[in-house]
Amino acid sequence: MAVIPVALAGRSYEVRIGSGLLADVASQCAPLLRKAKVPIVTDANVAAKWRDPVEAALRAAGKEPRWLIHQPGESAKSWDGLARTVEWLLAEEVERGDHVIALGGGVIGDLTGFAAAILKRGCGFIQLPTTLLAQVDSSVGGKTAINTPAGKNLVGAFHQPALVLADLDALDTLPMREMGAGFAEVIKYGILGDADFFAWCAANGAKIMAGDKAAQDYAVTRSVEAKARIVAEDERETTGTRALLNLGHTFGHALEAQTGFSDRLLHGEAVALGMVLAARYSTRVGLMSADDAARVASAIAAAGLPSEVSALGLNCAGKVLADHMLHDKKMDAGTLPFVLLRGIGDAFVAKDVALSDIATFLDDELAPQ
Ligand SMILES: NC(=O)c1ccc[n+]([C@@H]2O[C@H](COP(=O)([O-])OP(=O)(O)OC[C@H]3O[C@@H](n4cnc5c(N)ncnc54)[C@H](O)[C@@H]3O)[C@@H](O)[C@H]2O)c1
Repeated sequence: MAVIPVALAGRSYEVRIGSGLLADVASQCAPLLRKAKVPIVTDANVAAKWRDPVEAALRAAGKEPRWLIHQPGESAKSWDGLARTVEWLLAEEVERGDHVIALGGGVIGDLTGFAAAILKRGCGFIQLPTTLLAQVDSSVGGKTAINTPAGKNLVGAFHQPALVLADLDALDTLPMREMGAGFAEVIKYGILGDADFFAWCAANGAKIMAGDKAAQDYAVTRSVEAKARIVAEDERETTGTRALLNLGHTFGHALEAQTGFSDRLLHGEAVALGMVLAARYSTRVGLMSADDAARVASAIAAAGLPSEVSALGLNCAGKVLADHMLHDKKMDAGTLPFVLLRGIGDAFVAKDVALSDIATFLDDELAPQ
């Protein structure tokens, strides 16, 4: 088992990574579970696969698991989903010193973390991430949120978990397309700050997807190390360091908006395409070699992820996508910061990118190849 500390003054915690952690959940969480009753929030897909082993492990330790099961999908991350969660936690008499367990992907982690942040002005919570995306990204760093009709993740709080257990066995039941979406976030750490890790990802993507535990362990561990380092340096995204994690997200968000935040393009798939676009735009403005941009695109395509925006059949002009960016929550006093690349492993935040130039670039990318 790898143990990665997330070092934050007064709020430090561990991310433990390995196989068998869900089966061992009672002893892993023992010091945090002070009462018999253990509140667990999950979704129906995760419950179908993982409720029984988690229930059995807790009962064997004399605990009494209590379950709140949401419908799968983004719709749970809503005012309704939040109200349902908070009301349920109140009915379960959860106190500030208690810890709520979030068992699931980024949706359940973000929702439960936000409910924990506001319940009685803040109770504890534990992340048991069950998607690759949640293990390498959303469960670490304390960003919690819900969506509103005005946009995604617009209402939320920074609230760090007390512990994260990333059980690699959970990935065995994850649909392949969700694995791919998570792999996009893994390779992102290489593209933004670690050329060696990028090369490793490019060579080992297929093994990760095929369920090779050693490859998954290495990928999750290296990714969490990178995220923990960035979060420790810039917990609240104020110095610019944490903003590097948005690589591919501004382009990706526009693509998600244009496809209606639907299954047509999963968040991780949009980020994958967004990273290809960020790389190609960096080449276009003379920052990065065309060869490096091509390596980014081919590593992403090799993992079965979309790498050509023209293949999406969006049938819109570049300006339509650029206009979506105007509603990006990263918009700051009229400018939108873009994460661009000087090379693989060398990302930076550019604050002087003109959206009209992005629109022209996207016109070229959208044209049939
Ligand atoms: N807080 C952050 O820092 C942060 C970072 C990135 C993304 N996010 C958020 O994360 C969310 C996306 O997370 P996600 O990709 O994990 O999506 P998700 O939580 O919707 O999970 C994806 C799908 O996989 C299913 N699933 C989860 N684990 C499973 C398992 N082990 N076996 C079988 N099925 C399983 C879920 O039911 C769901 O249908 C978005 O809302 C995004 O905004 C947050």
